[in-house]
Amino acid sequence: MTKLILILAAQILLVAAIASAGDFARTMNQKHLGLHKKEKLTHLRFYWQDSLKGRHPSAVIIQQPVSNSSTFGSVTMMDDPLTLDVSRNSSVVGQAQGIYAGAAQREIGYLMVMNFAFKTGKYNGSTIAVLGRNTVLSKVREMPVVGGSGVFRFARGYVEARTKLFDFKAGDATVEYNCYVLHY
Ligand SMILES: *[C@@H]1O[C@H](CO)[C@@H](O)[C@H](O)[C@H]1NC(C)=O
Ligand SMILES: *[C@@H]1O[C@H](CO)[C@@H](O)[C@H](O)[C@H]1NC(C)=O
Ligand SMILES: *[C@@H]1O[C@H](CO)[C@@H](O)[C@H](O)[C@H]1NC(C)=O
Repeated sequence: MTKLILILAAQILLVAAIASAGDFARTMNQKHLGLHKKEKLTHLRFYWQDSLKGRHPSAVIIQQPVSNSSTFGSVTMMDDPLTLDVSRNSSVVGQAQGIYAGAAQREIGYLMVMNFAFKTGKYNGSTIAVLGRNTVLSKVREMPVVGGSGVFRFARGYVEARTKLFDFKAGDATVEYNCYVLHY
């Protein structure tokens, strides 16, 4: 008898759990988030300024590579300015904040995980998230845009990265980024 009551109680609890599980999610009208509009394609171009040494480094090595013959295993954290022009002194439009990590054993290839955080005009406060593979010695590297915030909510697309300047000794690199982003 007690066993039967226990089984019944368990079943009631299960039904209650299923009912409340449905409460945290609902289908809603896409209009409420402006998704009924046609997607826009925005092209952004800026220069990623990475500086590992000097007086004001914008990136720090968190973990050195596992061997001297590759960059595999290295982890670097960046807060790199994004500028309007190739010159480091040109206007800053935002920051690239994130990590690049040596992810290839037999070539120079990084895993890039970064947010472009924009600081100007209508893009101020909006971000684009990039997650991709960056073989820095290739002329053009393509990486996916996996999302965004603010103006770039629901973003998808890709970026093309082209190195403009690389000074190993000074620890400086300037990379042109062309971003092609679909968003609402
Ligand atoms: C890398 O090179 C440095 C100096 O040239 C040396 O001290 C170090 O042991 C090397 N590390 C490895 C993992 O081979
Ligand atoms: C940038 O500005 C610094 C001083 O503010 C100057 O020393 C440097 O030459 C400038 N670099 C370029 C590329 O204009
Ligand atoms: C960007 O937004 C921040 C926070 O709202 C504000 O403090 C800043 O002045 C804005 N910058 C520009 C260039 O509009």
